[in-house]
Amino acid sequence: MVAKSVVCVFALSLAGTVSGGTVTFHKDVEPVLQKHCQTCHRPGEVGPMPLLTYAEARPWAKSIKQATATGRMPPWGAAQGAPHAFGNDPRLSQDELAVLRAWADGGAPEGNPKDAPKPKQWVEGWDMGEPDRVFQPSSPYKVPAKGTVEYTYYIIPNAFKADTWVKGVEIRPEARRVVHHVIAYVRSPKSSWLKDYPAHTYFVPDHRSREEKPREEKAHEWREFLVGYAPGYRSSVWQSGRAKFVAAGSDLVYEIHFTTNGTEFEDKTLVGMQFAKEPPAERVMTNAVMNPRITIPPGADDHKEEAAIEMLQPAKLVALNPHMHLRGKAFEYRLTYPDGRQETILSVPKYDFNWQLNYEFSKPLELPKGTKIECTAWWDNSPNNPYNPDPKVEVKWGDQSWDEMMAGFFEMAFDRNVDPSTLYRYVRRNTPQQSASAVR
Ligand code: HEC
Repeated sequence: MVAKSVVCVFALSLAGTVSGGTVTFHKDVEPVLQKHCQTCHRPGEVGPMPLLTYAEARPWAKSIKQATATGRMPPWGAAQGAPHAFGNDPRLSQDELAVLRAWADGGAPEGNPKDAPKPKQWVEGWDMGEPDRVFQPSSPYKVPAKGTVEYTYYIIPNAFKADTWVKGVEIRPEARRVVHHVIAYVRSPKSSWLKDYPAHTYFVPDHRSREEKPREEKAHEWREFLVGYAPGYRSSVWQSGRAKFVAAGSDLVYEIHFTTNGTEFEDKTLVGMQFAKEPPAERVMTNAVMNPRITIPPGADDHKEEAAIEMLQPAKLVALNPHMHLRGKAFEYRLTYPDGRQETILSVPKYDFNWQLNYEFSKPLELPKGTKIECTAWWDNSPNNPYNPDPKVEVKWGDQSWDEMMAGFFEMAFDRNVDPSTLYRYVRRNTPQQSASAVR
């Protein structure tokens, strides 16, 4: 690396140099951009400008310094100091931050092109390898040049004719510039979720029905989060011996968040899947610690709600993904182990609706039977929240962005013979009207 030590870089960075001499684009900056930025900042991807060449990066030197110093780039919501590392943590090291700072402060020199690292090779086509099956809407969605597009849904009915073990999934939007997130859900034949809506067409749920609240313990039969896409995502392939189960007759439901950027696009997002030839040892499932009874008063700037589950069987916790809508402010997951030990495994102090980020543990956490997963969510329903669609209304659970959600998604691996309805139970819900009766 460039710097021998952090202290050294800090000491000299103001002069645009580090211990190895003047900080230049090719020698010092390009490797950092390759590693942390070009996944999104290259043509066709979501980043507003490419950062591949000196000519492209040079005008952005000061913004790059600022966006990285404030932690706005690369996007990541977890507070520092989480007790268990996240394998997909994209944050820059202190040395890398110092390099970008020194480069900007030193007038952003190019340096010698001979010092440049080899250009990064980007995978064209499927990152996970060839899928066994590919799903795709039959018609494109026309993303307008301007305005806000509500969360858009698309249902492919009876996508799975037989019980299926899915060992890998990859979501590939076509218009990556304007696709900010996609969740591929599986809807079991027993589910009533979005049942009033037609298949094979894009729609935004247009009523404010509260009937579709999930029954928490059976949430996986209401809808199961198969896999999520956000910019920078590559693919989800579970470790050998692990796969997700999809029951025969299930539908595939897309939830897509398009953002407009001044140009019209058409998108037909692909979902590729690889199937396990044999049932795996462990089933992987993504579920959520939910509180469908949230009630956020008008104007409240720090409204808090909680939800908690207790493991009835041992499992491994693989990843977390907090989900709220436009009024979401902060989110936290805590574990309380059977011996009373507690730890905050994820704290997102400044929740950002625009980045639906997945936090993947470097090493899955063992959850002994009796472990509790507790989630707390905070919302800002005041006029100070610039994203707030209406600070004057009481807000409840719903699919639309002007409704709210409290879903602490978690991905778990457990013995495939365990019936997921017996994996955990809800133990406590702290909303004022529920606190006593909700304890089961
Ligand atoms: C996961 C995708 C992603 C990654 C990784 C990423 N960016 Fe970005 N970047 C974006 C998007 C999308 C925007 C525009 C929206 C926004 O500002 O949030 C953006 C905006 C920016 C801006 C602000 C541009 C403006 O209009 O002011 C800068 C500067 C920037 N990125 C630099 C970087 C640098 C430097 C890195 C690597 C250290 C990086 N980004 C990594 C997606 C990404």
